[in-house]
Amino acid sequence: MNTQAKPTHDQRDWTFQPLAKEFTADPYAAYAELRERDGFHYYPDFNVWIASRYRDVQALALDRRMVRSLEGIASPEELAALQRSINFHDMPYHERFVQVNLLENDGEMHDRLRKHVFRYFTPAGVAGLRGMIQDYVDSLLDSLEDREEIDFVADLASHVPGHIIGRLLGVPDEDCPKLRHWSEEIVRYFDIDRTDANKAIAENATKEFADYMIALKADLEKNPGGNLMSKLLEIEREGGFVGDEYIATTMLILKAGHGSTIDVLGSGMHALLRFPDQMKRLREDPSLVATAVQEMFRYESPLPFFHRYNAEDVEIDGKHFPKGTKFGLLYASANRDPEAFDDPDSFDVGRRPNRHIAFGGGAHFCLGNHLSRLDMEVIFTSLLERFSSIELLEEPDYKPGIQARGPKSMKIALKRA
Ligand code: HEM
Repeated sequence: MNTQAKPTHDQRDWTFQPLAKEFTADPYAAYAELRERDGFHYYPDFNVWIASRYRDVQALALDRRMVRSLEGIASPEELAALQRSINFHDMPYHERFVQVNLLENDGEMHDRLRKHVFRYFTPAGVAGLRGMIQDYVDSLLDSLEDREEIDFVADLASHVPGHIIGRLLGVPDEDCPKLRHWSEEIVRYFDIDRTDANKAIAENATKEFADYMIALKADLEKNPGGNLMSKLLEIEREGGFVGDEYIATTMLILKAGHGSTIDVLGSGMHALLRFPDQMKRLREDPSLVATAVQEMFRYESPLPFFHRYNAEDVEIDGKHFPKGTKFGLLYASANRDPEAFDDPDSFDVGRRPNRHIAFGGGAHFCLGNHLSRLDMEVIFTSLLERFSSIELLEEPDYKPGIQARGPKSMKIALKRA
């Protein structure tokens, strides 16, 4: 007979510690331990059952009984108590514009909002942006030409995603740098470290961001352009967005892939520097750039962890999980699972097949995956063309935690081709 899932004896002998220094330096050792020990590992700090093996993570992402929001599963009183217990309450802007959006919803609302924006992010939808991305990357590289030493993260990577996604939506160029600041301060609040000081930072950033978007929307209502925010305004006029949905959706698009693209640009550059034979291979055969970029996502998945709740009781591997149990989908661990990838800890710019799940799967599969891959393909092709030598000057430190993975900064030396 199945019993309600409980932490196993094994789990008490070993603790998963995603905030430890050793974890930040090498999370993959802990992920391997998780995969070997137990299919589903109970992690008390998040009150979550973590799936770390590829097949389990993928199955959870594809399972329609697994949802992002507890709405309709827990009562309003239970939901309010949960919000308080995880310190996600008393932050009116965050609750209104960040905690409620298409990523955080399921069913009709999710499908409707996703449908409004989906077509602008298909491969055909983003292909037309290539010229604009190339021009912007060229101008950035021009500005770095005389510098022998740069911080790859601050001087290059951090400028690109905000500028491109901002242009696409209709944010004036001069305001795009603010998007990074707001996105990072808001996203920080999703990690375990929910101090009151971080709460105030996340709430202030959400307020500034939302106020900015409300003012921009008012401008675009008077002077629409050919940008995405103007196109979405037409959908709103036809009743496609109600209440705060327009602002929450545009804020999500502007922030969702922001820090993560910066992070994977940094970790992807770092991987090429750690594996010079792979950098040489890519230089010699630039047509490998698409598989190289996919391998960067697999090797250091920039968004390692997402959650789901089960909308009904489920049995998995003989364990019973009552409705409303929280599951963790450890995409970064799944992407290093030897059962799914040959030699998973090696970085191979020509890896095929490469069925990584760094963009998730199922109903919430990443909307921006084609766009972020396009940004990366342009950057790495241009960098390798323009600079005959790229060297790492000091080993970078990575961000702590399991919500994001990427180097904080990375000093490199460049020599012109
Ligand atoms: C490094 C780049 C990126 C990575 C690794 C990434 C990863 C992900 C993942 C894993 C999910 C699924 C979350 C889940 O399982 O619950 C997701 C969803 C999403 N991503 Fe991305 N993303 C990236 C870039 C972008 C960009 C550039 C955009 C901007 C358009 C974007 C917009 C979204 C949206 C709107 C969703 C929610 C989709 C839904 O709920 O239906 N992402 N992303």
